[in-house]
Amino acid sequence: MAPFSHEQARGAFDVVAEEVDQGRRLLLAAFLNGAVVGTVQVVVALPPNQPHRAEIAKLLVHRSARRRGVAELLMEHAEAEARVEGKTLLVLDTVTGDDAERLYKRLGWTRVGVIPGYALYPDGRPCDTTVFWKSL
Ligand SMILES: CC(C)(COP(=O)(O)OP(=O)(O)OC[C@H]1O[C@@H](n2cnc3c(N)ncnc32)[C@H](O)[C@@H]1OP(=O)(O)O)[C@@H](O)C(=O)NCCC(=O)NCCS
Repeated sequence: MAPFSHEQARGAFDVVAEEVDQGRRLLLAAFLNGAVVGTVQVVVALPPNQPHRAEIAKLLVHRSARRRGVAELLMEHAEAEARVEGKTLLVLDTVTGDDAERLYKRLGWTRVGVIPGYALYPDGRPCDTTVFWKSL
């Protein structure tokens, strides 16, 4: 939520790093000229009755590196790593109507539907969410 400080961002990624250390989450990064320009996470630790499933989270590409296929590459690698973990089903959700929706449809994800008011935009307005799944 806005305002979002650098410290808050670091704190969020510190939690992610802990889960990566524990093997509960995979963190992939894309580099351009030695700098990180994109990232995506694969949540692999799910309840015992869903060992075959993983969740894709926080696909982010820096504004300076967008529209060059970085997100597509990150998603291809996320799927490959999920397969290595023995996963056969992926799930994700995304802001309804955003650019990412086109990306997921292009990459063969199936759109389940929209949940109205699922989350909030940074300014506090309610935000609809679209849920997708993909079989590996
Ligand atoms: C959504 C997001 C991850 C996409 O990242 P990206 O690296 O720009 O994605 P891609 O480059 O793979 O694809 C974006 C577009 O560029 C196009 N593109 C890819 N390579 C290209 C190239 N070499 N030349 C021209 N266009 C290209 C793609 O066809 C796609 O077109 P579309 O808008 O018609 O779908 C990025 O905009 C972002 O970080 N947004 C904010 C966070 C967010 O919404 N994350 C999703 C959370 S679920």
